[in-house]
Amino acid sequence: MKILLFGKGGQVGWELQRSLAPLGEIVALDFDSKDHCGDFSNLTGLADTVRNVKPDVIVNAAAHTAVDKAESEAELARTLNALAPGVLAQEAARAGAWLVHYSTDYVFDGSGTRPWTETDTPAPLNVYGQTKLEGEQLIQAACPQHLILRTSWVYAARGGNFAKTMLRLAQERERLTVIDDQFGAPTGAELLADVTAHAIRQLRQRPEDAGLYHLVASGETNWHAYAKYVLAQARLLQPALLIKASEVVPVPSTAFPTPARRPHNSRLDTRKLQATFGLSLPHWQPGVARMLAETL
Ligand SMILES: NC(=O)c1ccc[n+]([C@@H]2O[C@H](COP(=O)([O-])OP(=O)(O)OC[C@H]3O[C@@H](n4cnc5c(N)ncnc54)[C@H](OP(=O)(O)O)[C@@H]3O)[C@@H](O)[C@H]2O)c1
Repeated sequence: MKILLFGKGGQVGWELQRSLAPLGEIVALDFDSKDHCGDFSNLTGLADTVRNVKPDVIVNAAAHTAVDKAESEAELARTLNALAPGVLAQEAARAGAWLVHYSTDYVFDGSGTRPWTETDTPAPLNVYGQTKLEGEQLIQAACPQHLILRTSWVYAARGGNFAKTMLRLAQERERLTVIDDQFGAPTGAELLADVTAHAIRQLRQRPEDAGLYHLVASGETNWHAYAKYVLAQARLLQPALLIKASEVVPVPSTAFPTPARRPHNSRLDTRKLQATFGLSLPHWQPGVARMLAETL
């Protein structure tokens, strides 16, 4: 099997390079790759890449993920999150290849408390969510052989993330204030990559399982409880670490105004994915603890 991977240097892309390796030959690209164009702002270049590489499976981990910045660069966000995946979908369909793509809880408006299912109506609150939703729609329209995985609150040992930011701040300040009215599940890039590899294997045998799925770790939390968990784990793992913060104070989202509005309810219902692919998704805490153990 030949796999064309875009966004190889991102959180998920990096882990995909590991998890997809046993499936076959991987051509892994970033926006500045030399051999083939991996730049999502170059739509013609992307089409040429697919035509030249002739993959069996395209996996797209590239995206414009700077949620606040997207508000002021909507056109670029739309090109990267919607138009480029749309081109990949057209080229995949033309070549008879599969397209695997990641989307987000931010396609929903965050109302209510019930976990969102794949049949719930999206209503994004911000440009990032709007462009990611349009990307889903363009893929669905152009390429029946697709797998779209909506996820949330992604972290990885590599690169920056919320847990690492909390650890840094806790070493600098005596008091942290953290939002407690947004709910979701921190999901490891490792888990996303492992499930992707498993799903690709199955889809090649059972093409009828193509479609849109929610994929997050099980359980739920809010950013305040997540921060407290991170600091408690850090104390356990590294008793010598100087954590100054003795207080982690819960505050509403309104305490931290941001250019992009964010959903309060980011819970995603993963029953469809678990049933279709015969998987049991682990609780979010062990994955975060593992990432901290690797990081500290
Ligand atoms: N992060 C989250 O919390 C989260 C939540 C829900 C869904 N998702 C989705 O999950 C997927 C993977 O996200 P992630 O967390 O791995 O994001 P990430 O770490 O930000 O990775 C995105 C990758 O896209 C690359 N990229 C940026 N501009 C590009 C361009 N013009 N052409 C080609 N590549 C470009 C980035 O390169 P540079 O780093 O060099 O800019 C980076 O390697 C995305 O589809 C995202 O929307 C993420």
